[in-house]
Amino acid sequence: MITLPSKIFIDGGDPAETREAKKLLGSIDGQTTNPTLISRNPDVRARLSKGEKYTEQEAYGMYRSVVSEISPIVEWSVSIETYADKNTTADAMYVQAKQMFTWIPNAWIKLPTTKAGLTAAERLVKEGVRVNMTLCFSQSQAAAVYAATRGTKEPCFVSPFVGRLDDRGEDGMQLIANILKMYRKGDGHMKVVSASVRTYNHFLYSLALKCDIITIPFKIFNEWAGKKFELPEKNWVYDPGKLKPIPYKNLALNKPWTSYDIQHDLTDIGIEKFAYDWNNLVK
Ligand code: E4P
Repeated sequence: MITLPSKIFIDGGDPAETREAKKLLGSIDGQTTNPTLISRNPDVRARLSKGEKYTEQEAYGMYRSVVSEISPIVEWSVSIETYADKNTTADAMYVQAKQMFTWIPNAWIKLPTTKAGLTAAERLVKEGVRVNMTLCFSQSQAAAVYAATRGTKEPCFVSPFVGRLDDRGEDGMQLIANILKMYRKGDGHMKVVSASVRTYNHFLYSLALKCDIITIPFKIFNEWAGKKFELPEKNWVYDPGKLKPIPYKNLALNKPWTSYDIQHDLTDIGIEKFAYDWNNLVK
């Protein structure tokens, strides 16, 4: 068994991929899911292609059965995402999160890094619910996550989305590096999940940075398997090409979470897309 600098998660909604990844590597630390990934599960696709949608209750039953199948395959954590659109209140997220947390013993509940999501998270972590704050696109959002979840007894995840920043010409990997650096002066309750990993180089650089967790689509996992689970050499350098740098900000972590700038247009766009993909499944 190789010793890896990061925990490796599969980013997907198909338990067959998780099983295959485990067969190849020996063990898989965890899994992240989201409404879009669940909508791409092969059984879900097959059903939709016959023109059959789910009732809301059936859709949540299906999500629960997918994560229940994945749960025992992985060593540690499975992320389940709450439904959120721009009108979803903190209370509604809280209620859903409490429910989803009972689905499997190793659940981490994904909530958007918004005012409503952070309000819900602050309350949830006090009650021992593990959270993964998703759709994070800025260092100040990550500082707000840190502050809102301070005091949690469980590790709290934050998922900065690398690929979606790259898509609009910004160096998403630099955001990962910046958040890791900022959290080094913290109390250690946060774990950074390198998410929206689209390229093999995103993955290698996340390993080089010793990011706490890296969640990768099976396609990238398979590419890594093809390279015999190589690790980046000490002198390996990430080339961001023409991507615009995201400079490090010197943010104090000891302020109330409401004092940080948590607005980001990509967060708002991401919420709407997840809601759209979920609503597409439902009658
Ligand atoms: C994982 O937690 C994220 O939801 C996922 O990596 C998003 O990836 P995408 O930007 O490719 O949709």
